[in-house]
Amino acid sequence: MQAKQRMLTGITTSGTPHLGNYLGALKPAVAASQQVDTDSFYFLADYHALIKCQDPQTVHRSGREIAAIWLALGLDTDKATFYRQSDIPEIPQLAWFLTCMTAKGMMNRAHAYKASVDENQRQSSVDLDQGISMGLYSYPILMAADILMFNAHQIPVGKDQIQHIEMCRDIAMRFNHTYGEHFVLPEAMVDEGDAKVLSGLDGRKMSKSYGNIIPLFAPADELKKLIFQITTNSLQPGEVKDPDTCTLFEIYSAFASHEETLVIRKAYANGIGWGDMKGQLFEYLNDYLTPARKRYDEIITDPAYIESELQKGAAKARAHSEPFMQRLRSAVGIMSLAGDLSAKQTGAKAKKELTQEEQAKVDAGKAKGMAIAKQRAEQEAQQLALQVDDLINIINTSSDPKAAGEEILSGLRTQIDGAKKKAKKILQQTLELLEQRLTS
Ligand code: TRP
Repeated sequence: MQAKQRMLTGITTSGTPHLGNYLGALKPAVAASQQVDTDSFYFLADYHALIKCQDPQTVHRSGREIAAIWLALGLDTDKATFYRQSDIPEIPQLAWFLTCMTAKGMMNRAHAYKASVDENQRQSSVDLDQGISMGLYSYPILMAADILMFNAHQIPVGKDQIQHIEMCRDIAMRFNHTYGEHFVLPEAMVDEGDAKVLSGLDGRKMSKSYGNIIPLFAPADELKKLIFQITTNSLQPGEVKDPDTCTLFEIYSAFASHEETLVIRKAYANGIGWGDMKGQLFEYLNDYLTPARKRYDEIITDPAYIESELQKGAAKARAHSEPFMQRLRSAVGIMSLAGDLSAKQTGAKAKKELTQEEQAKVDAGKAKGMAIAKQRAEQEAQQLALQVDDLINIINTSSDPKAAGEEILSGLRTQIDGAKKKAKKILQQTLELLEQRLTS
């Protein structure tokens, strides 16, 4: 069965994206969003930013820069869903549900937390949790909420994030086991290909924490200055140089074609001088980046446009997240009492005589309860219809719709057998509606 794959990834808004982020994440993500068989969800992870950065101006500015970068790189926001995490209130709500499904022992093993503990140990701190916030500790859970909220299948991430995706699967399984099948189990998509980690100015991995980055859209003069700061060895012009241990060559070849790279490789064998090579790298990168940088410069000075794009994305994202959260809320037993409230209330009150005023209050309460229950029922029906639409869509787009339909129906029947009461009812309704629609 060929359903549309949902791809989702976020960028934390606590810094300025650099050349390494571009090659490793942004460029492939924009390309993937153009594929017809993929629905992509890309977002600004601004709640995540608060873990690392307590400077409001940086968080705010970085959000604007990163949004402008996505747009300048040509992300099609009609096709992809492009949004800001904090515009989706259901994400932190889900994060709490998931927190209650997460084993503390598993969080103890999270790399980011363990690295901080190790650092405290190295510094012989008395308190190994010194300086570690609950945000840092439980951040894989917030990340799981980002992913599960949209039931994404594929998560393009760097190697350092694989563990978080595994934790997300674990949490999703536990939730599904407890409350019925609500979540798809996501997979990490790690680019093993030629997109290796890019080195920075000092030859170590390009990373904000080493202060060795080249910002993606640095103005030309700054780009030039930074490239001329890249560390090289002391070989003189005319001496043969090794391209494979050289940061200049590495960056050049990450952007250039195979043929262009071969030409430079030859130049190393012929003893190109470092100044000359730096000049060539600058010219190449500058030509490569200039068109997108021009768009970036226009977009960054138009925050109203950026905001309108984000609002458009938030509306699209919330069309999923609102009904889905409603469903999850009822799955865990958090829902209106209005339905049975009115009955119980009259029962209790009937024992004593009610004044006219009290009676009026009870009547008003009943009416309100019934209105809420009615609204709730309408929402549930609407959500059920949406879910069934999704399934019909999967069936219709599969290569063998008849077999796909049967597979889904039988899957639902098996789930119904194993589900608990509330989940069972929802699944039963889904099954009935789907059967109806498939035969009509
Ligand atoms: N934690 C990721 C990072 O630091 C960013 C992120 C937040 C993310 N939520 C996500 C990535 C969900 C993928 C999916 O790179």
